Amino acid sequence: MKLCGICRLEKVESMEKILDLISKKVMDAFEGCGYEASYGKVGISNRPDLCEYQCNGAMAGAKKYKKAPIMIANDVVAVLKEDPMFDEIVAVNPGFINIRVAGDFVAEYLNGMQADERLSVEKAAEPKTIMIDYGGANVAKPLHVGHLRSAIIGESIKRIGRFVGHKVIGDVHLGDWGLQMGLIITEVKERQPELVYFDESYEGEYPEEAPFTISELEEIYPTASGKSKVDEAFREAALEATAKLQSGVRGYRALWQQILNVSIADLKKNYGNLNVEFDLWKKESDAQPYIPEMVEEMKEKGYAYMDQGALIVDVAKESDTKEVPPCIILKSDGAALYTTTDLATIIERRKLFDPDEIIYVVDKRQEMHFIQVFRCARKTGLVKEDTGLKFLGFGTMNGKDGKPFKTREGGVMRLEHLIADINEEMFRKITENHEVDEAEARETAKLVGLSAIKYGDLSNQASKDYVFDLDKFTIVRGQYEVRIFFTQSVAIKSVLNQDIYARGGQIGRKRD
Ligand code: ARG
Repeated sequence: MKLCGICRLEKVESMEKILDLISKKVMDAFEGCGYEASYGKVGISNRPDLCEYQCNGAMAGAKKYKKAPIMIANDVVAVLKEDPMFDEIVAVNPGFINIRVAGDFVAEYLNGMQADERLSVEKAAEPKTIMIDYGGANVAKPLHVGHLRSAIIGESIKRIGRFVGHKVIGDVHLGDWGLQMGLIITEVKERQPELVYFDESYEGEYPEEAPFTISELEEIYPTASGKSKVDEAFREAALEATAKLQSGVRGYRALWQQILNVSIADLKKNYGNLNVEFDLWKKESDAQPYIPEMVEEMKEKGYAYMDQGALIVDVAKESDTKEVPPCIILKSDGAALYTTTDLATIIERRKLFDPDEIIYVVDKRQEMHFIQVFRCARKTGLVKEDTGLKFLGFGTMNGKDGKPFKTREGGVMRLEHLIADINEEMFRKITENHEVDEAEARETAKLVGLSAIKYGDLSNQASKDYVFDLDKFTIVRGQYEVRIFFTQSVAIKSVLNQDIYARGGQIGRKRD
């Protein structure tokens, strides 16, 4: 059996958690200094700005040993000061022990994980069926950086879930049923009123070819959306078109299908470039067939009632500290809302996959929407009691100025452009001062660039906003980093058959 150079523990089949290793080390030191080992328990720091781990046992032991906590902490720190497990271990008044672990220790730990075929991850004792609702792109709108986080976080959860042994189904849940469709249809109608889609008496087949390209479509939506904000008649027309589409007007459905075809082909390409794969390319509209029955039942059972023309379900609870407005199930014009499709989608998912859990990876600003949807689904019995409904809300990706990430001109940054910028910067760094084959360098830049984007995202707590800093993300500095980068990351890639989420520099921490 191999002995780890730093923690001096035998490599065992299932690896101990890094926290347990640190705890063990500190507990031994407490014992060595004549204190009870249990005081040496280490936890994750609640002051990450100061340290990564901390031990507060000296305070607890002060009474028993009739000593100032700082003295106990000092004793222990004196023993561990030179220990290679730590970069820094300090006693801080009144008696905290603050710890930062050494890069080499972490690297060695990771190497240990990597040496194990299963990366020392245990299989789930009871595999579950888990659906992950992520991506969430809207048809006819280009993917922007906001969609990036959902794609990256959702994809990683999907892969981790599978690796652990769960049956995980990823669904992109495209937005294709709301006002944005009505807006596009109305704009197309204004531009090309002669199109057969708008002839309500037409009974023949609709053309195979779409009346727009993807780039035209991407221009149509923002134009229409802008118009609807200043032109009330246009907005009215778009609302009407939305209701007509939802109620099944043939020409509108055919045009909508064209929008889907053109848009989905483009989305597949873009998600493919991110190495993000969905099992299901379901859409909000797929929930439509479930809506009438759902609404009837909610009415029949007395959950839903009319309020100012709209059909609503109350979901507030007495214990609420902030107001949770009722769920609007149908608007006064009968059109389905985002809430309606999300509820009906739960019915569809139950029917088709009977999941134990559904996880929604969506911008945290939508939290209230999901509180309402989950409560309504439970109240009206759309899910079994033990079905988990989880909202995993992520923060905003900001620019260096702390505001939502924008292009230099101040517009919404398209994902494609962001990726191209990163690849270019990576290429520049790789070829700077190096003789490398151009094609190979481009290929590497792509791989490393994508990994950097993913790592940059996943290294942050999902719920927090984070700053996207191109310069920081593309740092490939120092021999040490590069060595780990090219050995470790490639190995991780081959083991997991997926992208590299860990950039070497960060695994081993920067050395310069
Ligand atoms: N299309 C939505 C948006 O862009 C996200 C969809 C999230 N998933 C869901 N089931 N609501 O905001």
